[in-house]
Amino acid sequence: MTEPVGVGPWQGAWPDDPRYDPELLRDGDARNVADRYRYWTVEAIVADLDARRHPFHVAIENWQHDFNIGSIVRTANAFLAAEVHVVGKRRWNRRGAMVTDRYQHVRHHADVGALAAWAAEEGVEVIGVDNLPGAVPLETAQLPERCVLVFGQEGPGLTEAARSACSRTLAIAQFGSTRSINAGAAAAVAMHTWIRQHADG
Ligand SMILES: C[S@@+](CC[C@H](N)C(=O)[O-])C[C@H]1O[C@@H](n2cnc3c(N)ncnc32)[C@H](O)[C@@H]1O
Repeated sequence: MTEPVGVGPWQGAWPDDPRYDPELLRDGDARNVADRYRYWTVEAIVADLDARRHPFHVAIENWQHDFNIGSIVRTANAFLAAEVHVVGKRRWNRRGAMVTDRYQHVRHHADVGALAAWAAEEGVEVIGVDNLPGAVPLETAQLPERCVLVFGQEGPGLTEAARSACSRTLAIAQFGSTRSINAGAAAAVAMHTWIRQHADG
């Protein structure tokens, strides 16, 4: 028998707080949200997250509908990134996001130039993450608080345009035979590096 997911209808007198959603109080809350957000409306959860988001961003190139974008959005939500930037095609496969995109700001840029212009205006360092020639180890790099970590796609990796928009490129150490790990896994490692250096824990 499978365990029920989430919580059932609210027991007892309903809380008098506008953050609670009457439908969820009545029917229960089976969403993939942390316990402290049980029964809250989506708007109330997003407002609470917005009040304490971290100042790092992530960007992923999307020229071939990369299937990793959903998992990157989910991880960005978990680590409370300011925004996820999708560069290239606007459409992306939401499946891996597991609905976390409802709580995560996702911005689209038509090309790398638009991402770079946004970063210059915001004073955010653009940092590539790829194991390209000239990349330096992520493990010993110091990440600035305000940065956008840019990931490439399965196969080609970071495009030439993305490489030249980045102030530096960081590589995750590997020890096996494969040329690379997948972009979603690389994004999780890089985001966690930022968390270890800057988040309160
Ligand atoms: C599957 S990789 C493909 C490109 C890779 N440069 C190659 O030679 O095969 C897709 C993306 O995942 C990320 N990635 C994968 N392995 C990485 C590593 N060891 N270090 C940093 N980024 C990595 C990068 O953002 C890269 O653009």
